[in-house]
Amino acid sequence: MAASDIQRIGVLTGGGDCPGLNAVIRAVTKTANKVYGLTVVGIEDGFDGLLQPYKAKEITPQMISGILSQGGTILGTTNRGNPFEYKRKVNNKIIQEDISDIAVKNFHALNLDALIVIGGDGSLKIADRFFREKGIPVVGIPKTIDNDLESTDMTFGFRTAVTTATEAIDKLHTTAESHHRIMILELMGRYVGWIALESGIAGGADVIIIPEIPYKIEKIVEKVSQRSSVGKKFSIIVVAEGAKPEGGTHAIKSSADQELGAERLGGAGERLGYELNEITDIDYRVTVLGHLQRGGSPSALDRILSTRFGEKAVHLLMQKEFGKMVCLKTPNIKSVMIDEAVSRFKSVDPSGEMVKTAESIGISFGR
Ligand code: F6P
Repeated sequence: MAASDIQRIGVLTGGGDCPGLNAVIRAVTKTANKVYGLTVVGIEDGFDGLLQPYKAKEITPQMISGILSQGGTILGTTNRGNPFEYKRKVNNKIIQEDISDIAVKNFHALNLDALIVIGGDGSLKIADRFFREKGIPVVGIPKTIDNDLESTDMTFGFRTAVTTATEAIDKLHTTAESHHRIMILELMGRYVGWIALESGIAGGADVIIIPEIPYKIEKIVEKVSQRSSVGKKFSIIVVAEGAKPEGGTHAIKSSADQELGAERLGGAGERLGYELNEITDIDYRVTVLGHLQRGGSPSALDRILSTRFGEKAVHLLMQKEFGKMVCLKTPNIKSVMIDEAVSRFKSVDPSGEMVKTAESIGISFGR
């Protein structure tokens, strides 16, 4: 396909939402309209929007006016519904089928020439299959508050989530101190601890528990007791939802077998509180920050990253660099093949600089 054959492009947001998605949609639409004179069609609710009956509409300048600062996504999203492994509940049993050809048919029925997929590793893997197996010209843009993609220095949404979590830690400090309590804050991040690590440092947590460093409960008790012995009768413990005790596993709310999507994590904070309570009699409370981390207006830095990603993605499409994903290689926006980008998680290095810095200033990781 010659670059000039591209006249009409689709854009969709897939997976869990995060601050900055609207800023990307705005940048894609503006660049496509102004630089290349393209029409941009917004596909609603992720890949679901390409299934029967399809849900899509042309994105007009009015639709993107004022959305730069808005959280969420004007296109809607879902973290269920992989068209290659489409799950439905029939008579209380989950059945799975490949209905990707419906999406391909609808892509062509919408007269689309190419597709920009804004998503995390799950949506990007699906995008890559449409490119490799179905020949759809695709470019990917990585998003997730978890910041767990190896091929980009940062995903947008992460910094805003860290700010939200830091504000929560600040608020917990005052009530923890007043009541001489241990306050446990459970944060998102799935199998990696970036949000917990960075907000824990920014908020001055006493203990940070992340999946990459399985914890020993005795070590946490040691830290809390040390503080108590010097008159600090409260402690703040930040725990990532994917945290696990040494020899144990992460806490789950429901497994993938019970869900139409992925397994749902949850309960790490309560479990930790219970374990602490078995050893020490210090009063504790657990706060689960949950989806507040995904909401709200994107920070200035996330708006800038989103805008840069959106603009670069359109240029990649027009240069026929299909099957690629935009990424941040500080200070530049570059690209990598999607399959390479989604093949590895970016996790916290337990002996890396950031963990060492935290330990040097007295933060315990429960090891
Ligand atoms: O991947 C982003 C994320 O917010 C994770 O941190 C969290 O485990 C998951 O999504 C929650 O997903 P859901 O919106 O399905 O509850």
